[in-house]
Amino acid sequence: MAITYFKKFPSVISIFLSILLHLHLSTAQSVTKGGYWFPGSGFAVSNINSSLFTHLFCAFADLDPSTYQVKISSSNSAQFSTFTQTVQQKNPSVKTLLSIGGGGANPSTFSAMARQASTRKSFIDSSINLARANNFHGLDLDWEYPSSASDMSNFGSLITEWKSSVANESTTSGKPPLLLVAALFYSSNYYSLNYPIQAISNSLNWVNIMAYDFYGPLWYPNKTAPSAALYVVSNAPNQVSGDTGVTAWIQAGLAPKKLALGVPFYGYAWRLVNANNNGLFAPANGSAIPGDGSMGYNQIRRFINQNGAKTVFNSAAVADYCYAGTTWISYDDTQSISTKVKYAKGKSLFGYFVWHVGADNNWVLSQTAYQAWG
Ligand SMILES: *[C@@H]1O[C@H](CO)[C@@H](O)[C@H](O)[C@H]1NC(C)=O
Ligand SMILES: *[C@@H]1O[C@H](CO)[C@@H](O)[C@H](O)[C@H]1NC(C)=O
Ligand SMILES: *[C@@H]1O[C@H](CO)[C@@H](O)[C@H](O)[C@H]1NC(C)=O
Ligand SMILES: *[C@@H]1O[C@H](CO)[C@@H](O)[C@H](O)[C@H]1NC(C)=O
Repeated sequence: MAITYFKKFPSVISIFLSILLHLHLSTAQSVTKGGYWFPGSGFAVSNINSSLFTHLFCAFADLDPSTYQVKISSSNSAQFSTFTQTVQQKNPSVKTLLSIGGGGANPSTFSAMARQASTRKSFIDSSINLARANNFHGLDLDWEYPSSASDMSNFGSLITEWKSSVANESTTSGKPPLLLVAALFYSSNYYSLNYPIQAISNSLNWVNIMAYDFYGPLWYPNKTAPSAALYVVSNAPNQVSGDTGVTAWIQAGLAPKKLALGVPFYGYAWRLVNANNNGLFAPANGSAIPGDGSMGYNQIRRFINQNGAKTVFNSAAVADYCYAGTTWISYDDTQSISTKVKYAKGKSLFGYFVWHVGADNNWVLSQTAYQAWG
């Protein structure tokens, strides 16, 4: 009798659970394959192959330094307001998020906004209104970076209040709650400051960790280097890598399912001191091109074809580089991208994201990433 009971009971539960699980899976996404787009890329929104993404980020809305309201600049408003409708033509189920801030925004404006409840409310209310008015499914905060202990704790308050306002708005409007995401430093530890893990876990759907820009010719001029390595190699000058960052986030207590690994669709060009000394950490003399040395993947492929550049995949670092003459470029090609995406899947992360979709070359990297996850 008891045996029959215990045999039957789990099967009833498991049927019930499988129904619940099915319902859950059919409403919530189990992976993010994200991509950022920004107007300065010159890439038309209508040309984005949105079938290769689950989430597309429209970057960036601005934080007004006097009102602390989130705004879309007038020069971007036409493209931003039609972004969702445009990308859903090729993929009706793609979700869109409005990204706020970015590397070009002044972090002190975010710091000042997050300091007081009243200015946090300006940010929160205006961002929700802006997302709804422009048909986005979510919001993405790119504050680069909270840089003091009080910034970190204010960031925690901000996202906690953001989440409760989003839940509230959903109840009032009857619409699914806006997704809330933040683009964060590659590691949970920003120069000895810790991100507020509990607030992140409770308030954000997931975080995009920017696992690139580890080295560049402007801030690391004297040696070539793997600018977005997945692993630290033996002659590296420090412990910076994608894996170091992912490990730090998980050890700090963030669930892997809350993490999306960033991969770059661009690289950096150094000038070699000696064309014949052209490996990783070879002597260099700053950037090979004007500016910060960054080049989109499509530009790098053109450089390779036009100059017959030699290409190398370093499997220890998980990094590609190429060189011709004294120009040496660190970048991510198909092997780096697929290895990183498989790494993310193997670590049970929520997925990956790319910066930026307009730098791909005939969708080769986007397709590689999409298929590597499976
Ligand atoms: C977009 O991606 C899909 C899925 O991989 C592919 O079938 C299609 O050819 C791509 N479109 C373009 C224009 O590259
Ligand atoms: C929630 O919504 C109610 C009704 O619209 C409003 O009075 C309240 O202030 C809201 N709370 C938050 C945290 O936004
Ligand atoms: C690079 O080398 C120059 C010249 O030797 C030196 O002055 C500079 O400090 C070095 N830069 C870094 C970041 O090591
Ligand atoms: C690096 O470039 C500067 C100026 O462009 C030059 O003066 C210097 O000699 C170069 N250093 C090396 C090691 O080639």
